[in-house]
Amino acid sequence: MSIIHYFSKDANKRAKFIFNLIAPIYSHVDKSLSDNYRDVIELLKDEISIVGKTVLDVGSGTGAWSYAYLQGGAKKVEGVDFSSGMVEVSRKRHPEIKFSYGDSENLKDINDDSFDIVTAAYMLHGVTGDRRQKILSEMKRVSKGYIIIHDFSGRTPIFVRFLEFMERSDYKNFKKNFCEELKQNFAEVKKIDTKYGSGIYLAKV
Ligand SMILES: C[S@@+](CC[C@H](N)C(=O)[O-])C[C@H]1O[C@@H](n2cnc3c(N)ncnc32)[C@H](O)[C@@H]1O
Repeated sequence: MSIIHYFSKDANKRAKFIFNLIAPIYSHVDKSLSDNYRDVIELLKDEISIVGKTVLDVGSGTGAWSYAYLQGGAKKVEGVDFSSGMVEVSRKRHPEIKFSYGDSENLKDINDDSFDIVTAAYMLHGVTGDRRQKILSEMKRVSKGYIIIHDFSGRTPIFVRFLEFMERSDYKNFKKNFCEELKQNFAEVKKIDTKYGSGIYLAKV
């Protein structure tokens, strides 16, 4: 992929270009991300049980969020990402987890009700509302238990706002609308605030 994709009108082409580009940098922060995610999973454990569960992580990146579930006692964790660079890094960093290349808008290789928990960290704020809707309905289709989203929720630090501006993400609309979007798809929805302007959004299928 060339730099021209950064200026593409197609947001997915732009995102793939950016995440392929930054995958090697992400690889270096994977350890500190994992440490932070382990704490988030501990908070989640106050709400639902992770031990013995099967988990699918969509937009898995370098695999730090997937790994946090494994550390938290999940029986089986798999990840899916549409950036080949990210999938490559995640396979090297976390060989105990199966990572596949795929688009969360169409999880065509995964049957209905396949996992107890289907989750995403810091992926859904990056896509537009219509794409979020498609991804949420795919997540719902392949889950038989819970959808768990870890993402922005409150006021984010300035460097994060700069990065989101560069990425041309939808994070402002995400923060404003996401709870409502979830409530349109799920009867039971709960939000738990975590550190650094983020939160856990929990929905029962
Ligand atoms: C900000 S990164 C977060 C990675 C990881 N979840 C974490 O928290 O460390 C967002 C990831 O979502 C992936 N992504 C974005 N849209 C996607 C889609 N439609 N299908 C699959 N992966 C997607 C990107 O390639 C990127 O790896």
